[in-house]
Amino acid sequence: MSEQSWQIRPESTEDAPLVAALNEASFGPGRYAKSAYRLRDGVDPVAGLSFVAVENGELLGSIRFWPVAIGMEKSLLLGPLAVQCDQRGRGIGIALMKSGIEAARAQGHAGIVLVGDEPYYVRVGFARIAPGRIHFPGPVDPERILGLSLRQNVMLTLKGEVRRSRIDHPVCADGAAVG
Ligand SMILES: CC(C)(COP(=O)(O)OP(=O)(O)OC[C@H]1O[C@@H](n2cnc3c(N)ncnc32)[C@H](O)[C@@H]1OP(=O)(O)O)[C@@H](O)C(=O)NCCC(=O)NCCS
Repeated sequence: MSEQSWQIRPESTEDAPLVAALNEASFGPGRYAKSAYRLRDGVDPVAGLSFVAVENGELLGSIRFWPVAIGMEKSLLLGPLAVQCDQRGRGIGIALMKSGIEAARAQGHAGIVLVGDEPYYVRVGFARIAPGRIHFPGPVDPERILGLSLRQNVMLTLKGEVRRSRIDHPVCADGAAVG
């Protein structure tokens, strides 16, 4: 087995354009129509939970988390998570998630939700949230709504609408910033 030569480190300000390009290449412009993006509109990612994978100065992968409110509870929304397409299958996606999950636990967050493929995210402990418990803005396949409790022996009891928990940059309906 070849030795691992990439590293995970916190995302820096200089990484932002590369992360944007990676997300554009991985998800395309259609990503803005997704429910999860409604929850990111005008909101900054949670500080301290954005990580990148790098090798020889090249950015290979990225993960960020967004703050959300679900019913009366605060939670984290995992994603976007993306790895350069020619670098997939090297364990980078799982390592990025493990770094993010560990940092989120250290920050004291109670849990994380996401919309994604259960067979992948089960590898870091996510499980399906019972259909009907939580509702995203817009259509989401209920079988893809997954959650992870960050507290030992405490189950996630989230229930209700998933909403933005704060707005950092108010935007108009057409996406323009409010001056
Ligand atoms: C999903 C993604 C982040 C995985 O990154 P990665 O670095 O290749 O993942 P890892 O190397 O850590 O894990 C690879 C393993 O997970 C499996 N896997 C990857 N995506 C999967 C999926 N959607 N469903 C089930 N298994 C998946 C692979 O088959 C591989 O299995 P193996 O270890 O048995 O060979 C990457 O494929 C990607 O960027 N995809 C495009 C963006 C995307 O879909 N992001 C997720 C949004 S919900």
